[in-house]
Amino acid sequence: MSTTAPETPNTSAAKSMEDIVALCKRRGFIFPASEIYGGINGFWDFGPLGVELKNNLRDAWWHDMVRCPPAGPDGEMLTIVGLDSAIIQNPKVWEASGHVGGFNDPMVDDKETKQRFRADHLWGVVQLEHPDRSYDDMVVIGNALISEGRANLLCSFVAPSLGEAIEFLETAKPKAVNGLRIHNVWDVPEAGVSRLDGILLRTGDTPKTLFDCVAIPVPLAVQERDFEYIPSPFTGKRGALTAPRQFNLMFKTHRGVLEDDESLCYLRPETAQGIFLNFKNVIDTQRVKVPFGIAQIGKAFRNEVTPRNYIFRSREFEQMEMEFFCHESEAKKWYDFWVQTRLDWWKSLGISADNLQRRDHDAAELAHYSTACADVEYRYPFTSPGFGELEGIAHRGCFDLTQHQEHSGAKLAYFDQERNEHYLPHVIEPAAGLSRGVLVLLCEAYTPDPERPSKVYMKFHPRMAPIKAAIFPLVAKEGMPEVAQKLYDELRTKYAVQLDVKQNIGKRYARMDEAGTPYCFTIDGQTLEDQTVTVRERDTSSQERINIDQVGSYLAERIGG
Ligand code: GAP
Repeated sequence: MSTTAPETPNTSAAKSMEDIVALCKRRGFIFPASEIYGGINGFWDFGPLGVELKNNLRDAWWHDMVRCPPAGPDGEMLTIVGLDSAIIQNPKVWEASGHVGGFNDPMVDDKETKQRFRADHLWGVVQLEHPDRSYDDMVVIGNALISEGRANLLCSFVAPSLGEAIEFLETAKPKAVNGLRIHNVWDVPEAGVSRLDGILLRTGDTPKTLFDCVAIPVPLAVQERDFEYIPSPFTGKRGALTAPRQFNLMFKTHRGVLEDDESLCYLRPETAQGIFLNFKNVIDTQRVKVPFGIAQIGKAFRNEVTPRNYIFRSREFEQMEMEFFCHESEAKKWYDFWVQTRLDWWKSLGISADNLQRRDHDAAELAHYSTACADVEYRYPFTSPGFGELEGIAHRGCFDLTQHQEHSGAKLAYFDQERNEHYLPHVIEPAAGLSRGVLVLLCEAYTPDPERPSKVYMKFHPRMAPIKAAIFPLVAKEGMPEVAQKLYDELRTKYAVQLDVKQNIGKRYARMDEAGTPYCFTIDGQTLEDQTVTVRERDTSSQERINIDQVGSYLAERIGG
């Protein structure tokens, strides 16, 4: 076991979430919703740069999934059509889909602090075995949510003091308890830990010292009565927790003037069901043949018990989902194809392979109707060195169509002319978070650089960059603003460009570095003589002169369009 932090200067591990959030606020990517009223937990607004970034990601997905989908495993052209279904559907939809009965989180409250968390995160509690003290003497100095396969361990780091904890660990060096490995958190990726959460005591960006205070998970078959004995993860006190209560994650509302059970309806918790509802409509109106897909991008709402980690888990978010309908005998082939294709797609947007991984769910994690599910995971700064979910690719069998057929009475079977067979197709579902994808783009792009005036730049893939180019007249006189204005007017019809005439040129470059603008064109005295402009490249800060007439083709080569 190594106890030192890995050397990862420019990976998510070296980036601080606080710095990323501050930049996003400062430059207008993301604002807390209802900020002037004190905010509202779990809701976010996308500012001028954020909405461009989100739209770029959305448009790239739509282009690469619907307009120009990839070739299938046998090299054939795929057919994927689009859809935009209503957010509010007949409430029976959510009974059929299982969301009314099953989309619940068991919730536990700390009676004293009124803090709340998910009981299924409490599959084990951590005890620090200390030669001289009992657990009750100790204070909680940090919490970590550690996922190991299906088991989520909400670990409380307890110790009389940090110093004593370290001393104990260095002398006792416990390796395992009850047959369970003890995790040194820097070694956790190999052990399969995917998420760390809520570290309370941190020392700057290197929480190594705290993490070295090893957590010893002791698995408990948690039953309701056990909650009396489980120490609160917030205070360490026993007897402070309530028994778990089921909490449905769907947001409720009412249609029409009467607010009663009859008028109850739900904001959709996923975009997927709208696709299943329209399966027959699409078959009947479009020239599509199985295998084919239906794709949708849109808002989804979940009354998450613990929204957290910035926009990672919010209560209102956007999804990009595609249901790919195929014959049961080919489902495995399509599943393998989509898992690989989706992983490759995120890489194509400039996300480094080191920060992405595929994680196959183990059997215990699968929904009862699903035979396989894999996540595309990203190494977020708050999960690093572990990974957290970005997209899930699920083999849903024919569960949803079967359910809707039974509950609605509509006949949803597809007639396959080639096979001369009626059947309910099986479904492979790549389901990505659009808002979460934006978070990944932001975390990946954030690049500290002490050499620059801004000390940081956003290294967006040009396809994703919210501003593709900036145009600066060196000074606001001598005809330079007029030349800049003309170039700006030409470019803006094709690209998201900005004209910036204020402040000195260094400050203008710094602003664009923080916005992640790949190219800046400056009109200076020489432009007026020989019609050349300087172009500065974001990542290298290098500059060259090109003819002003070539600016369009220069951008087209590098950005497309
Ligand atoms: N139709 C399947 C489905 O909805 P999911 O894993 O619950 O599956 C798919 O959601 C994706 O939606 C996730 O991988 C994640 O990117 C995103 N997502 C889910 N809940 C979210 C939340 N509360 N906030 C932000 N994104 C979320």
